[in-house]
Parts: sequence; C-alpha cells; structure tokens
Amino acid sequence: MLSILRTTTAFLEERGVAEPRLSAEHLLADVLDCRRLDLYLRYDRPLSSEELASYRSRVKRRMVGEPVQYITGVAGFRGLELAVDQRVLVPRPETERLVAEVLEWARARAGRGRAPDSGWRILDLGTGSGAIACALSVELEGVRRVVASDRSVEALTVARENGARVGAAAMAWVAADGLSAFRSGPTFHAIVANLPYVADSDIAGLPIEVARWEPAGALFAGPAGTEAIAATVEDAPRCLAPGGLLALEVGRGQDAEARRRIDATPGLEFLAGWRDLAGVARGVLALADGREA
Ligand SMILES: C[S@@+](CC[C@H](N)C(=O)[O-])C[C@H]1O[C@@H](n2cnc3c(N)ncnc32)[C@H](O)[C@@H]1O
Repeated sequence: MLSILRTTTAFLEERGVAEPRLSAEHLLADVLDCRRLDLYLRYDRPLSSEELASYRSRVKRRMVGEPVQYITGVAGFRGLELAVDQRVLVPRPETERLVAEVLEWARARAGRGRAPDSGWRILDLGTGSGAIACALSVELEGVRRVVASDRSVEALTVARENGARVGAAAMAWVAADGLSAFRSGPTFHAIVANLPYVADSDIAGLPIEVARWEPAGALFAGPAGTEAIAATVEDAPRCLAPGGLLALEVGRGQDAEARRRIDATPGLEFLAGWRDLAGVARGVLALADGREA
C-alpha cells in the first residue's frame, strides 16, 4: 500500500495536481472504506484486482484536477460528513469560522439573558451543500428554525439530503433568489451567508480545480464580485429582527466595500470583521437596529 501511495503521489505531482500525497491517501482510503490513518496501520495489506481498478479510476479523475471531495462524494465541515457533488461548492475550512462567529454572537447574547424566548430563527442564504445550515442546526443551543435557501434547486436537493444525513432538526428549505422571498415573512435573529464573491473577469485567476469543476453559479457574482454581498446588505434590515445579526463571508479585498455598504444602509450597524490565519480579511458582522427581540 505504501508503494502505491508513493507512486501515485509522484504521478500526481508531475501533473501539477494540488496536494498529491493527501489526494492519494483520501482516494485509497475511499476505495478501502477506511480512515487515512488505517492505511498506515495496515500498510502490508495487499489490494485485490477490483480494488486496484477502482483506485486507478479515481486517480484518473484526480489527475485532471477534479476535487477529491467530488470523487469520494464527501466533504468534512465542522465535524460533519456531508455529501457533495458538482451541483454544490465544496465547503471550505474558512467558512467554519463564519459558523463560529455566529455561535459566539448567539452564545454571548444568551449569556446576557437575551436569547429569544421562542428559540433562534436563522437563515443560511446561498446554502449550497447546506454546510452552514446543518452545522448551526446541530451546534446552536435553543434553535427553533434554520431556513436553508438557495436559488439553485439542484443545490437545495443536496442540502436537503445533507440535513437528513446529519440528523439536523428544525430545518426548512426554500428555493429563492437572494432575500426576495423573506422580505414580508417572519424575521430572522441571524442571516448567515457565504455567497459568490468572484468577479466574472477573474476566472483566469482561479485554480483549475475550482474554475473547471465547481458550479459557476456558486462562484461568480457579477462584474465587480461584490454584487451578491451588496444586495444582501441592502435587503437585510427588512428581514432581520431588531438587534439581529448579519454575518457575511467576503472575498479577498472586499471587506472595506462590504463595510461601506453596511455604513450606508439605514437600519444596519457595522459590528466587527474577522481575518483568516493568513491575516486576510474574510468576513463582516453587522447588527440590525433596535432592542434585541
Ligand atoms: C459560494 S457558494 C457557498 C455554498 C455554501 N454556503 C458554503 O459555504 O459552502 C454560494 C451559493 O449561493 C448560491 N447563490 C448564488 N447567488 C444566489 C442568490 N442570488 N440567491 C440565493 N442563492 C444564491 C449558489 O447557488 C451557491 O450554492
């Protein structure tokens, strides 16, 4: 097994595939239906001809840049194992921080005795695989309803499957463009969104794995890249309960524009931003006017 891993790593490396060793380990572990660690614990186990054939077909797909998660059909997110395929963006580790920011805000508010009496109502706008919605449904204490919304009906199908897969409770699924469907309904205590933020012209700057394999509707926002963020900021005050939170992931260099939009929006006040481990600004938080309700 170790020599197969070594050979595959060299093969993928030669072709410029990202994370060749990790890819080889994930693909072999997938074929053998074991953890990556088990590959090293059972390093002398011979592979059957069927296993070898399945492994080779996976390596061929990886060779042309297909993300490992689409090949294995699963992606990890905050300890959950979610089903993914080309209908949805592969959830990113940096988006786990977006969930952490919402949890921290909600827990701080609960700590002040200001958790909503009837439970939290949360909207995950642009839910994709359902990663954010599922994580909040599982992790947030006192949650009443998590609405997962996407304009892609295909993505919503995957999100719904993931809700069932992780046993997420109190979920609702809504196909809608932006916040249009929520302007006159019950308000939310938090709106969380990781929407597309790549400018249409930036396609050449994306890694091949992203540009060729991930859904364009999950990546590109328009000529500026900030269109989906701007529309969400503009509509948010109508959809948030008083004192409610808007939590947005943003692209590199978009935090100042997001903040400018928040400052220019009546009924919304900038709260904070956050940076990733590389020091890149990654998200913004804003609060709706009014006493927490
Ligand atoms: C960057 S992906 C993020 C998916 C998921 N939230 C995550 O973090 O992994 C953006 C998602 O937003 C959806 N989307 C794009 N524009 C939208 C819009 N105007 N209204 C609703 N959903 C939208 C896309 O279909 C895609 O599933």
